[in-house]
Amino acid sequence: MNRNFKLSDFKKAKKNQKPIVALTAYDFPTAYYEQQAGIDFILVGDSMGMVCYGRHNTLQVTLEDIIKHSQAVRKGAPETFVVGDMPFLTYQISTEQAVENAGKLVSQGEVDAVKVEGGQEVASQIKSILNCGIAVMGHLGLTPQSISKYGGYRLQGKTVEKAKKIYQDALILEELGVFSIVLEFIPQELAELITEKITIPTIGIGSGNKCDGQILVIHDLMNFNPDVIPKFVRTYANLGQTYTQSISQYSEDVRSGNFPGESESTKIKNFTVDEYRKLIEQK
Ligand code: KIV
Repeated sequence: MNRNFKLSDFKKAKKNQKPIVALTAYDFPTAYYEQQAGIDFILVGDSMGMVCYGRHNTLQVTLEDIIKHSQAVRKGAPETFVVGDMPFLTYQISTEQAVENAGKLVSQGEVDAVKVEGGQEVASQIKSILNCGIAVMGHLGLTPQSISKYGGYRLQGKTVEKAKKIYQDALILEELGVFSIVLEFIPQELAELITEKITIPTIGIGSGNKCDGQILVIHDLMNFNPDVIPKFVRTYANLGQTYTQSISQYSEDVRSGNFPGESESTKIKNFTVDEYRKLIEQK
């Protein structure tokens, strides 16, 4: 395993106050360009359910989906640290189930680590995965697999009681031995407090700029998501518009006979249509 940014670099980055840069990827070309750009790690997130498959939540994503997409990502980014998401109901049921599925994700999906949503309620599963020798990334705050309980994608940790639960879960995860924690859509001051308190890096998404790193869904960053893009995203391109304009132009060119042109076609010298007619039809 020859990675540009390794497991041991997560803690080093926090110590040296070097922000960790992460994005999701689900396919070969995206992973390739993310590695070219030199990001620190890639998450093959179950957000693929929404941005790749057009679902309204992440709940239908399967372990097989994550494995298949992770294999493509690994091909595109062989030197980048890749984390694979454990999908809904692949670890919640039992420690045995969690270990077996995390093992499959690492061995078949070729990821460097797995990500598990939740704190104290999945502590025994996280412990078992770690005991099996697999690195685990935690995920607290807005955990999309609990969307049914939340009733929508909303800011989490708004009350003192809820903020305290997220804070205590972060301490539990650190104690268990996870190497990093994603903090999704919580108040920035709460994220700052947790980041100060724990020795492993926090990776924020919609949780302010005091986290040790940041992650975004690549389709959101590129404005390539026909669904609603969360308010905490900054878009760096307008791929949706570029796609529509390019495809419209292509349609126009095909319909007008403008595509393909001479340079996009192949001609064999001396072989005219008449020559072909003579050689092929008169046989
Ligand atoms: O699935 C995902 O993309 C995630 C990130 C939003 C952190 O979990």
